[in-house]
Amino acid sequence: MQFEVFTLLPEVFPSYLETSIIKRAIERGLINVRVHNIRDYAHDKHHTTDDTPYGGGGGMVMKPEPVFEAIESALGLEADQTPPEAASVVPIILLTPQGRVFNQAIAQELSRHERILLLCGRYEGIDERIREHLVTDEISIGDYVLTGGELPALILIDAVARLLPDVLGDPTGAQDDSHAMGLLEYPHYTRPPEFRGWKAPDVLLSGDHKKIDKWRREQALLRTFHKRPDMLEKTDLSKEDKKFIERLKNVEH
Ligand code: ADE
Repeated sequence: MQFEVFTLLPEVFPSYLETSIIKRAIERGLINVRVHNIRDYAHDKHHTTDDTPYGGGGGMVMKPEPVFEAIESALGLEADQTPPEAASVVPIILLTPQGRVFNQAIAQELSRHERILLLCGRYEGIDERIREHLVTDEISIGDYVLTGGELPALILIDAVARLLPDVLGDPTGAQDDSHAMGLLEYPHYTRPPEFRGWKAPDVLLSGDHKKIDKWRREQALLRTFHKRPDMLEKTDLSKEDKKFIERLKNVEH
C-alpha cells in the first residue's frame, strides 16, 4: 500500500518510519511512504506557503497554490485538471480536528485502498478552497487540537499499516486487538508464573484451550463493561455474552 504525505515539516517523519514494525513493512515492500514537502511547490523567491487571512484576525493560512500543485503532481494530473475522479480511487485526506473521528473501523476501511494521500494542515488553518475542491475526506484523531497534522498522519499510517497482510509477525495479530472485535482486549501474562507473589491466572497455564478462550472472552467483556460500557451497546454479542453481562450487572446492584 502506498501512503503519500504532504507536509511543511517532512523532517518529522523518518525517525518513526525507520523504526520497528513500520520499518520492516517498508523494507519488505508491504507499504511505501512518500513524504512530499509542500514548500517545494511554492515558486516565489521565498517559497511562501502561508499568508494572512482575508478579513483580518490573527494567525496565518496555508495558501492553496502549493498544496494543489503538490497533490496534482503526485497524482500525475495537469494543473487545473481537477482531481476528484482520480480521488474516487485515491482518497485525499486532510488531517484536521474538524474531521470524522478516527477509529478502528475507519482504519479497516482505509486499509482496503491501494494508495491514500494525507494532507497535514499547519498554521491556523488552510484556505477553504483546498477543503472544498481538493480533499475528499477529513479525519481527526480526537477532540483536541495539535499544532499540525503530522502526528495524526503518522498515527493513521501506523494503524492502517498493521492491518495489512504480513505486516505483523503473527498473522492473527490484529484480530483480537482492542476495538477490532468491538471489545477491549483481554489481559496478557507471560513468564514468570509468579512475580513478587502475584500469580498469572491458573487457567492460562492449564493448556485447556477451550477454557482459555472462554476466560479471555469473559475478561474482554468484563473490561469493556467497566472501562467502556458505550462499546457494549454497539457490538454483536452472543447469547452467552449477554448472560455474562447480565450477571455482571446483578453483581453491581
Ligand atoms: N491537526 C490538529 N489537531 C488535529 C487532530 N486532533 N486531528 C487531526 N489533525 C489535527
